[in-house]
Parts: sequence; C-alpha cells; structure tokens
Amino acid sequence: MATMTSLIGLINKIQRACTVLGDHGGEGLSLWEALPSVAVVGGQSSGKSSVLESVVGRDFLPRGSGIVTRRPLVLQLHKTEDGQQEYAEFLHAPRKRFTDFVGSEPIQLECETGIASVRKEISDETDRITGKTKQISNIPIHLSIYSPNVVNLTLIDLPGLTKVAVEGQSETIVQDIENMVRSYVEKPNCIILAISPANQDIATSDAIKLAREVDASGERTFGVLTKLDLMDKGTNAVEVLEGRQYRLQHPWVGIVNRSQADINKNVDMIVARKKEQEYFETSPEYGHLAHKMGSEYLAKLLSQHLEIVIRQKIPSIIALINKTIDELNAELDRIGRPIAVDSGAQLYTILEVCRAFDKVFREHLD
Ligand code: GDP
Ligand code: NA
Ligand code: MG
Repeated sequence: MATMTSLIGLINKIQRACTVLGDHGGEGLSLWEALPSVAVVGGQSSGKSSVLESVVGRDFLPRGSGIVTRRPLVLQLHKTEDGQQEYAEFLHAPRKRFTDFVGSEPIQLECETGIASVRKEISDETDRITGKTKQISNIPIHLSIYSPNVVNLTLIDLPGLTKVAVEGQSETIVQDIENMVRSYVEKPNCIILAISPANQDIATSDAIKLAREVDASGERTFGVLTKLDLMDKGTNAVEVLEGRQYRLQHPWVGIVNRSQADINKNVDMIVARKKEQEYFETSPEYGHLAHKMGSEYLAKLLSQHLEIVIRQKIPSIIALINKTIDELNAELDRIGRPIAVDSGAQLYTILEVCRAFDKVFREHLD
C-alpha cells in the first residue's frame, strides 16, 4: 500500500491525462469530473488570491484592484522530494519549465524574475483568449507547481463575485461570473473554499450564499474567514469561528493574510505565515483556537479531506478508466491496427496510458 501522499500525487497526474483525453472528446472529461478539486469562491477582494497563495506558500497570482482573474485557473500542486528544485509548468506550454519560480533569491529579484514570469504568463494567457479587456472566459488555464514545500492539492481560482458591472463591462457580467463560478462549485466533486471577510457581516457573504445553494448539507464546504485583523475594535469573530453564528458541517478556519501595505512592502510569505500564527497564539480572543487557525492548518485540513474523498472514489475511477479502454479499443478495431497514421498512434498511446493508470489504481485499492 503506497502512502496516501503518493496516491494524491497520482490523482494530479491523472487529472492532466484526463485533459488530454478530454481534448479527444472521449471519456476524459467525465473522468476529470469524477475527481475532487478545491475551488476558491467569494466576493471580489474578499482575499481569495491571498488564501490561495498562502495554501501554496508562494506568491505567483496576478493581483490588483478590479477584475484581474478573468479565466478560471486550475492549479495543481505536486509534492516532490525534499531538496528538489521547485518549478511551475503550464499545460499550454508543456515543455517550458519555470524554474526561476523558486523564491530563495532576494525579494526584489524575485519580483523581477521568476515569480513575475509565472504571474505574467497567467495574465498573457488570459489575454490570448479574452484580449486586453475586462471580459471573462470559461476556458481554464492549467498550471502545475512541483515543489517539496506544498501538499498535494488541485485548487481552482475563480473570478470574484460582484454586485455591479463597472465601466467597460457588459451589463450581464455579474450574472456571467456567478454562472461561471456556479458551473465549478455545483459539481458534487468540488470542495468549496468559501471565503468571507471578517470585517463584513457573515449574513452578507456571497461565498456562503452560493455554497449553501449548491451544497445544502455543507459536506463539501469549508468556511474561511479572512481579514480578522481588520475587524472593528471591540468586535471579534469567535461566534463565527466556533460555528455558533453560521453552522457549517466542517469547522470554520480563521485567516490573517498580508495586508495591502504588507504586499507593497514585499513582506515574505514565510514571514507572513509566522506573523499569522503569532497573531492567533497571542490573541486574547482566539488564543484557545490557535491550533485550528491559519493558512497552514487550512492546507492540512484540505489535504486530509481530499484523501478521504479520493479513497472513496477509487472503484468508480477504475470503472471510468475501463470504459475509456473499451471505447479506445473499439475505436482502434474500427480504424484497424497496427496503425502508422498519427491519430491511430495517438489513440494507442492514450490506451496505454489508461491501462497504466488502471493498473496503478488497482494496486492502490485495498
Ligand atoms: P481577491 O480579490 O478575493 O482575490 O482578494 P485579494 O487576495 O487580492 O485581496 C484583496 C485585498 O485585501 C488585498 O489588498 C489584500 O492585501 C487584502 N487582504 C486580503 N486578506 C487580508 C487579511 O486577512 N488581512 C488584511 N489586513 N488584508 C487582507
Ligand atoms: Na481583488
Ligand atoms: Mg483575486
């Protein structure tokens, strides 16, 4: 029995393979839909990108005021062996390794080189579909990060929910964004990271509203409360964090991300995490909850939940792979083999990949 960590690593690889299968219009897409992922949902500027970066432990997402995230970003984190060099890779540029993604350089350099290049590629690739507009596209960008410093997770960043169309946007943009977000989070296999800022009343949370609509039982919703440090003096979020104000199936996790001032000062991610932990440990209100708060705890909680969900899914994944194998075999029989032509060879390769995955999954089934 391989470790659960490697199993989740395998899932990440399969998700990539499924994208290839999906391009063939075969069973790939449904296989993709069978696997769990984590989507970050919330209002604009609720702290989605900040939470996502914290979970990853790296600065790399395009940020700014207004509508920056205009395409879904499917982010796969792959845990590698300690000491291995960290790199990022896009599905649309599979041979290009962003090795300068590593953040051991001085922070100033980091922004001008590596981190910026991943960030720039996300924004360039967004523009390739939408142009330099404020329009959105449903077509996701796939980014993989290989690092010893991450837990194995697939995360999806989505445009923020808004209330009004701003200058240069169509009148339908509010509904368009909601529809796009909904199309991800309504899937039964999507784990929802519902981001709400603590300095707004939880009753006005767009994230909780949408999560509740698509996941009434709350079994796949994790409530994340950001901006605890920005609450009015004399108020606190203990009622929410202890689940007494709005009850969720899973426990609420409180977060303190970097402020805009921290971002402007290039405050390092590691430093920010340490500060966050200190914030909880020394807080008179939240001290008793400190061990269940913060970005690292959130990442751990998510990873554990994914492991449980994935384990439950193995039999259905095997069934889907076998269905794909049957279909590919039938297709190969139809066009005749052995095949020298490109399409046949490609089908054959996919078939081999499916067989390999099938074998691997059977080995992981108790
Ligand atoms: P998004 O639009 O939901 O992706 O939100 P961002 O992550 O881009 O954050 C929007 C702004 O809120 C940025 O200026 C962040 O620095 C700030 N911010 C996010 N979370 C926190 C937090 O926990 N505390 C503080 N002080 N600022 C935060
Ligand atoms: Na924003
Ligand atoms: Mg954002």
